[in-house]
Amino acid sequence: MLSSVAQSDLEFLSRLIHRQSGQFIEPDRMRQVAFKLIPVSRRFGFKSVETMVRELRHEPQGLVTAVVEAMTINETSFFRDEEPFVHFRNAVLPALLRARAGRRQLRIWCAAASTGQEPYSLAMILDEERAALKDWAVQIIATDINATALAQARQGLYCEEELARGLTAERRLRHFSNEDGGWRIAAPVRRMVDFHHFNLMGDYAWLGELDVIICRNVLFYFDAPTKAAVLEKLTAALAPDGCLILGASESPRGSTRALEAYGPGTFRKMPGRVAQQRVG
Ligand SMILES: C[S@@+](CC[C@H](N)C(=O)[O-])C[C@H]1O[C@@H](n2cnc3c(N)ncnc32)[C@H](O)[C@@H]1O
Repeated sequence: MLSSVAQSDLEFLSRLIHRQSGQFIEPDRMRQVAFKLIPVSRRFGFKSVETMVRELRHEPQGLVTAVVEAMTINETSFFRDEEPFVHFRNAVLPALLRARAGRRQLRIWCAAASTGQEPYSLAMILDEERAALKDWAVQIIATDINATALAQARQGLYCEEELARGLTAERRLRHFSNEDGGWRIAAPVRRMVDFHHFNLMGDYAWLGELDVIICRNVLFYFDAPTKAAVLEKLTAALAPDGCLILGASESPRGSTRALEAYGPGTFRKMPGRVAQQRVG
């Protein structure tokens, strides 16, 4: 807790982070988490967080980016909550294989990929199903606002503790090798994923039409209007028969009526409803 930061500075930080990333941290909560800015202030040569906030008011891009990054929570694990991944393998993927049999193309977007465990979990499943995907073009686009997390994701190198969270012994053997004091993801799985720095507040046009979007455990950091706007853009980016996978405690309910439940944490477009259909 940083008790010395003025209330007006906390309010400014809260507004700045909301505007830049959609994350809503109330000023009172900001006081509790502002200690995360101490390393940023040191790295940029400021005497204190307070002096850094003074400079931040001029919004220098490098500093703003570093502050927003420091305020993200990058908690993740392989096959987090498991059930949506089982459903992806047993229901979503077979349905897409049937529907896309002509085009033989599959496009998946992992929209808050953090350090990579989530897109690599999907890639491992696809690798395990490679007999069914022979001659298919499969692409997983993985994005996050945090460039430092993405750098680790691109390396695909994890420590023992990270592997222990969610990976079976069988998958560890099959998809990782012991390397550089850690565990490196196997090249075929690594190659399936393209990482890009991207803010969910931005324009999704460059992503094209997606068959599956997995956007988990990020919407709950947004306030209601931001969550509704992001859900609207995610839905619009989906193919008509595509599906959206959200986190265990996240739901489109109350934000949009354009999606219906389709298994654990999984939603698809309501037939006959347009993507823009918001509640209220
Ligand atoms: C708690 S992690 C969830 C990671 C993973 N999806 C999972 O469920 O295990 C939330 C991620 O969302 C990212 N994030 C927060 N705001 C974002 C934004 N506006 N655009 C893109 N990513 C964002 C953070 O950097 C962080 O990596």
